Amino acid sequence: MGKISPSILSADFTRLADDIEKVEKAGADYIHIDVMDGHFVPNITIGPMLVEAVRRITDLPIDVHLMISDPDRYIDAFVEKGASIISIHTEAVTHLHRTIQYIRDKGVKASLALNPATTLDCLEYVLPDLDMVLLMTVNPGFEGQKFIPAMIPKIKQLRDMINKQGLNIEIEVDGGIKPETIEMVSSAGADVFVAGSAIFYSNNYNSIIHKMRENMRI
Ligand code: DX5
Ligand code: ZN
Repeated sequence: MGKISPSILSADFTRLADDIEKVEKAGADYIHIDVMDGHFVPNITIGPMLVEAVRRITDLPIDVHLMISDPDRYIDAFVEKGASIISIHTEAVTHLHRTIQYIRDKGVKASLALNPATTLDCLEYVLPDLDMVLLMTVNPGFEGQKFIPAMIPKIKQLRDMINKQGLNIEIEVDGGIKPETIEMVSSAGADVFVAGSAIFYSNNYNSIIHKMRENMRI
């Protein structure tokens, strides 16, 4: 069974606790938190303080997506505030192997995020050290963008790499995921599905999450 990770970037921040409780009741598996620094991506969002607040209101794993330059500077802060999984972008890190080890040494799951135009080559020497790979299916920075269909063969290729090496690594997809796109991304081999606008802009979180599960091909 695939996992659903609602991105709270699309939630109503004036009623965040309510929104999180609702998606949790609807069967969400993770809570996805999008951290943007206005430098690596052209948008600014939230930071460790919000992770700390979310940690107090849910027991679900917190899936932190760092869209920030030089993420090494902030890993300790996100770990301390309660992150369960930390995704760093390969495009934003200099000593990738070291950063991945650092996250793992802190007892947190390490995930590597790749922008749409980034090839899978960067995974060659670090794949066995990862718990998850996050394939961006839009260019990071904003919610509500259109899924990029060229990412389908990339997901398949990564699934093959992981299977051939007999590794137990999740493939997370992020951007433009909704009931209509989840069928093809799950058939291609993804198993964790981030969805922001599709869930939080619907008027019934339960039925949209249910629909996403129905359309999953895993
Ligand atoms: C994009 C973020 C995503 C995004 C998802 O930069 O990483 O998590 O907010 O939003 P939707 O599901 O609306 O594409
Ligand atoms: Zn994200």
